[in-house]
Amino acid sequence: MNGQLLAAAPMEGLTTAVFRRLHHQYFGGTDLYYIPFITPTVEPKFTDRHLKELSPEVNAGIPVVPQLLSNRSADFIWAAKALQDLGYKEVNLNLGCPSGTVVAKGKGSGFLRDLYALERFLDEIFSAGIDIPISIKTRLGWANTEEFGDILNLYKKYPLSLLIVHMRLKTDQYKGEVRKEALLEHLDEIPFPLGVNGDMITTADMIDFSKTFRDPKMLMVGRALMADPALFRKYKGGPAASLEEIKNFTTALFDAYTEAFQNRRNAMMRMKEFWFFQANLFEENPKAFKNIFKSKTEEDFLAAIEEIEAGRPLTDARFGWKKPL
Ligand SMILES: Cc1cc2nc3c(=O)[nH]c(=O)nc-3n(C[C@H](O)[C@H](O)[C@H](O)COP(=O)(O)O)c2cc1C
Repeated sequence: MNGQLLAAAPMEGLTTAVFRRLHHQYFGGTDLYYIPFITPTVEPKFTDRHLKELSPEVNAGIPVVPQLLSNRSADFIWAAKALQDLGYKEVNLNLGCPSGTVVAKGKGSGFLRDLYALERFLDEIFSAGIDIPISIKTRLGWANTEEFGDILNLYKKYPLSLLIVHMRLKTDQYKGEVRKEALLEHLDEIPFPLGVNGDMITTADMIDFSKTFRDPKMLMVGRALMADPALFRKYKGGPAASLEEIKNFTTALFDAYTEAFQNRRNAMMRMKEFWFFQANLFEENPKAFKNIFKSKTEEDFLAAIEEIEAGRPLTDARFGWKKPL
């Protein structure tokens, strides 16, 4: 595990600037936070909305990596150079997003269906004089794990600084088991530092993935880090989250979203998304869990959370969001 990096996966609406700052402050343990994807526009300038996530001020003191979602090399190139000017040390290309609107435009995992176009794109971005390392976050393919061989052969033509693999297909969306065998089959061929991602829930899972993938450079965790904000701290030998820590952290998060949105109601909606995962650090309580999402007033919302929290923090988070294929 020498030099292994623990990374928070990019998750739109969850691993926001607000979350990153507070998570880093309250729990630490995370070596890198990947910023949820930014789609660069044709006009070569980040929008105010982009800068809310990207500006150096909001990320001061926090180790972050920006991610771009694009299939137009010109847009990727200006944005990567602008990120370089902002002081970033890595830019990540999103080749995994399975959302309908994204793949319909041939972006994210939609780009994996057209390897000729992807090759042209990669040729162009890797010869454009971008001076910061380019990493890729990818799925195994569109609909069949057999595709991964060709995808990997394409990536091998370029000097990726890191290849992060979410071990699912686009057609899996977020369901079913991660397809470890498909990555294992090609492990010896991967010439870049490797990041593995998908369904690590506990520190035991992280140890298991580390062994299975022969000590990969990076373990990237998304949803389980929302469920158990102390997951990485524990993996590094630190303590589990106490109830008081969870209370302080989630209260601070709610307040910071209120401040960011200038709106308590919208902040509460955002906190509901977070609690969808956070509730899994407590004993199962289906009624209280439902009440979180049914609640219309802050009073009802906080009452539901109090009921969840009566279940005390568990040693390991439950995999409560698991869905069959
Ligand atoms: C709500 C949500 C938003 C996500 N947003 C992004 C994103 O912006 N960029 C990206 O590469 N992956 C995104 N993902 C995928 C995650 O980064 C990660 O690959 C996936 O959740 C599997 O890892 P996990 O099982 O540890 O959560 C998102 C996932 C979720 C659930």
